[in-house]
Amino acid sequence: MYPLCKASVLDSKTLAAMHAQCFDKPWTEKTFHDLLFLPTTYGLWCEAGLLLTSCVCDEAEILTLCVLPGYRRQGVAGALLDAMAEHLKQQHVRKIFLEVAADNQAAIDLYKKHGFTQMGQRKGYYEGKDALTMQRLL
Ligand SMILES: CC(C)(COP(=O)(O)OP(=O)(O)OC[C@H]1O[C@@H](n2cnc3c(N)ncnc32)[C@H](O)[C@@H]1OP(=O)(O)O)[C@@H](O)C(=O)NCCC(=O)NCCS
Repeated sequence: MYPLCKASVLDSKTLAAMHAQCFDKPWTEKTFHDLLFLPTTYGLWCEAGLLLTSCVCDEAEILTLCVLPGYRRQGVAGALLDAMAEHLKQQHVRKIFLEVAADNQAAIDLYKKHGFTQMGQRKGYYEGKDALTMQRLL
């Protein structure tokens, strides 16, 4: 597995470049910078992918997760989720939430494999496309 690093504002440009390889509507360097500047944001990344969460009290939310196309199906996203869950447990977080596009079966399967269950469905959440809301208890 690729060594994981804690993300800082100094990584914003690198993370934005990775994000752009994974999403049709990628986040800008400024978006990463602004998020990582906040004390509530915690990010982990490696050469293959990244995961950002926002954490308030005993609840966390996954902000984004992606793995570069050439590195997929090697367990990178799973490793990022496991490492994040360990960190959040140490911070006394009890629940992790996320939204995922209802047609993103790869991500839904990933999250189910890692202990997330569906809570609900938001109609038209992603520009007309539905989102599933999921949670994992730590
Ligand atoms: C979704 C994503 C993060 C998965 O990353 P990954 O490193 O390939 O995932 P992993 O190798 O850890 O996969 C773990 C499990 O997830 C599921 N999974 C992952 N990719 C899948 C795919 N393309 N089709 C079906 N199931 C898939 C499988 O259950 C897999 O276990 P298996 O390989 O033993 O079958 C990656 O495909 C990605 O970055 N996609 C684009 C961005 C995105 O959709 N992010 C999520 C937004 S909420």
